[in-house]
Amino acid sequence: MKRLVASIAICVLVITGCAVATPSLGRIVPAAAWTDSILNEPPCAPDSDLRLLAGQGKVVALTFDDGPGPYTGQLLDELAARDAKATFFIFAEKITGDNAFLVRRMAQEGHCVGSHTYHHARLTTLTNSQIWQEMDLADRAIAQAAGSPPQLMRPPFGAYDQRVIDACGKPVILWSLDTRDWELHDPETVCRNILDFVQDGDIILLHELALSSKDGVVAAIDILMEDGYSFVTVPELFQLRGIPLEAGKHYHDARQAGNNCEYSGEESGNVSQG
Ligand code: NI
Repeated sequence: MKRLVASIAICVLVITGCAVATPSLGRIVPAAAWTDSILNEPPCAPDSDLRLLAGQGKVVALTFDDGPGPYTGQLLDELAARDAKATFFIFAEKITGDNAFLVRRMAQEGHCVGSHTYHHARLTTLTNSQIWQEMDLADRAIAQAAGSPPQLMRPPFGAYDQRVIDACGKPVILWSLDTRDWELHDPETVCRNILDFVQDGDIILLHELALSSKDGVVAAIDILMEDGYSFVTVPELFQLRGIPLEAGKHYHDARQAGNNCEYSGEESGNVSQG
């Protein structure tokens, strides 16, 4: 209870801009000039710079589903100001107009761009060939925007089974910490849910739909950076822990004693909106 009260207080202070100590923002990284060089880079290649060395401390992967959304540009600005990297599972039907530039910006700024299917489909209800079609449509749209096709998949609604895992042809990335941001729409609760439950090696589920998600996660990032946490992409997180990401498998986290597992037939449906 003591920890809970403290985290409520600190989330309120940070979100309202009243924190006594100004959180360190880390190394400021200017947005790189757009070039075509990214087209030649392997997608989601783990960064070999200091972040991986720094990652010998506590590391987590922030993941954002359902974007791009109206606050994606602001979120990318906040992440860049903190040198924090994230993984975006793109709702590929949304890649039109300015959203295409946001997806390209994600890739260009060192984030990992993953697939959340084309139509945000509930894959467990589809045939194998329909699953392949969803994946293929999303791959093409994301590749056109980001410069390379996505290497990871998060199933919409968190709905998956071993057939879906096999049919989608990519590593399936679930999560170990659900912020419930999709239902709560309150930045203090989003922040507090992260601070109260975060563990080294977590994959944290967020969405690109609401301002409250952005404000809540940014407040949590500042507090966790003070506590020695680094924010890396999903491939970087697993590389740091020496765990290969393979098609045909699914992953919940990269904790030291992780709960990644073979599909047991018990997990589908025990999840939030994904
Ligand atoms: Ni979703």
